[in-house]
Amino acid sequence: MSTPTVIGLDLGTTGARAVLADASGATLAVHEAPYELHTPRPGWAEQSPADWERAAFEALSAVASRARRAGDVRAIGLTGQMHGLTLLDRAQQPLRDAILWCDLRTGPQRRELEDAIGVRTLVRYTGNLPLEGFQAPKLVWIRRHEPRLLERTAHMLLPKDFIRLRLSGECCTDVSDASGTGYFDSATRCWSDQMIEMLAIDQAWLPEVRESPEMAGTLTPTAAERLGLRPGIPIAAGAGDQPAGAVAAGIVAEGDAAVTIGSSGVVFAAASRYGAAADGRVQVGAHALPQRWYLMGVTQAAGLSLRWLRDTFMPGISYEQIVPEATDSPPGSRGLLWMPYLQGERTPHLDADARGALVGLTTAHRRADIVRAVLEGVAFSLRDAAQAIQGVGALVERFTLAGGGARSPLWRQIVADVFDAPMQIEPEGRGPAYGAALLGAVASGVFASVEEAIRNTAAARATVAPSTGGGVALNAAYARYRDVYPALAEVSRASAAAQASETGDA
Ligand code: XUL
Repeated sequence: MSTPTVIGLDLGTTGARAVLADASGATLAVHEAPYELHTPRPGWAEQSPADWERAAFEALSAVASRARRAGDVRAIGLTGQMHGLTLLDRAQQPLRDAILWCDLRTGPQRRELEDAIGVRTLVRYTGNLPLEGFQAPKLVWIRRHEPRLLERTAHMLLPKDFIRLRLSGECCTDVSDASGTGYFDSATRCWSDQMIEMLAIDQAWLPEVRESPEMAGTLTPTAAERLGLRPGIPIAAGAGDQPAGAVAAGIVAEGDAAVTIGSSGVVFAAASRYGAAADGRVQVGAHALPQRWYLMGVTQAAGLSLRWLRDTFMPGISYEQIVPEATDSPPGSRGLLWMPYLQGERTPHLDADARGALVGLTTAHRRADIVRAVLEGVAFSLRDAAQAIQGVGALVERFTLAGGGARSPLWRQIVADVFDAPMQIEPEGRGPAYGAALLGAVASGVFASVEEAIRNTAAARATVAPSTGGGVALNAAYARYRDVYPALAEVSRASAAAQASETGDA
């Protein structure tokens, strides 16, 4: 008898990634299909759901063709970029491009909701503020700027759930992703009736909510034919990319936290009780397993900082070339500081008007210092996020470093030094798509629970310990880093206003 296999799909910000895994935890195939991110105006970020569909089907078909027999595939698990707004009409066709998690247009709408409802009440209803990236302020923006679309709206979905609709015909979501909409009560794991009323959401637009390892749809005959799989394969409810990545990294018990450097940077802590900061400074949500929650601090531009630096000043040069160069610069980057606020900042400032800065430049600085300062600045912002989570009273003791940033030996060491804590390194390939595959394995009965899936598929992990010398210099640099945001806040706000008036958004 052949071993059962499961497929995980991650609808990411840069592309769709599918993995085929077996019940021992081995990854048998991976396929990535990229798509474009559109920036129709500075600060806006949109993607075409049709591009998502094309890439998702390409990635899924590619890994399905690698299963020894298509009949062995037991389940599909879905994950993806969180928070995005996808509006569909009655014929289930997109009414416009989806507005993404990193889109910053909704500052005025967030303030409008906070003024009308009150910060504490919003946190009481949902656990969170209606942050710029969340669906709630986006809906308010649509109502203000594109009201005709709402007359034709029949469904309002999160990104990965649009793909579920194409795979199964079902409008469903999961508790962890729903927690990032701004109208879901993370404490009770249900839509918030109060917020739905205040946002004038038609209940019929909303998908049904399930726990992440539950089944939410099965593969239709049409989708099965497109993918070369059998119809009826169960599709797990799945999870947002951060909770799914946490499942992959085994972050499910109190005290465990993932530090992920992808496009965004995230500190994600698991909690066995619900608890939110009264001022909503840290994101909270229902974790991808029953009776667990998460606390999350997010840096908007982590890997994105490095990508921006390379694409703007060193086009055509690979990361593998640029990053090791930074070892020529000492810890502390010869006094240079990078503020990674290229897309405003979420944790701890919750300030869409924060702006990036390179502070302390002299003619003595070289490229290596600037690259190192970027790596260090991202690590400082992640330490800020971890401290914000600890400030809510959560236990954060054991760290696993994941995402593209975890592949760089230098960045790993910098993060271990800045946190002054050992970092377990997530093995390559074990990201959100892998976590979604594990959720699929639970949904189809291959494992009885998420914990059992994690235990049975555990992989060996290397650990990076903090170095003796590096930590001291970085601690001093972190203290200076903490002073820069308040010192520049006014100037940044003025810059943001000037940028908005140049583009006619004021
Ligand atoms: C989490 C978040 C990002 C996106 C894209 O709150 O906004 O991590 O999910 O990865």
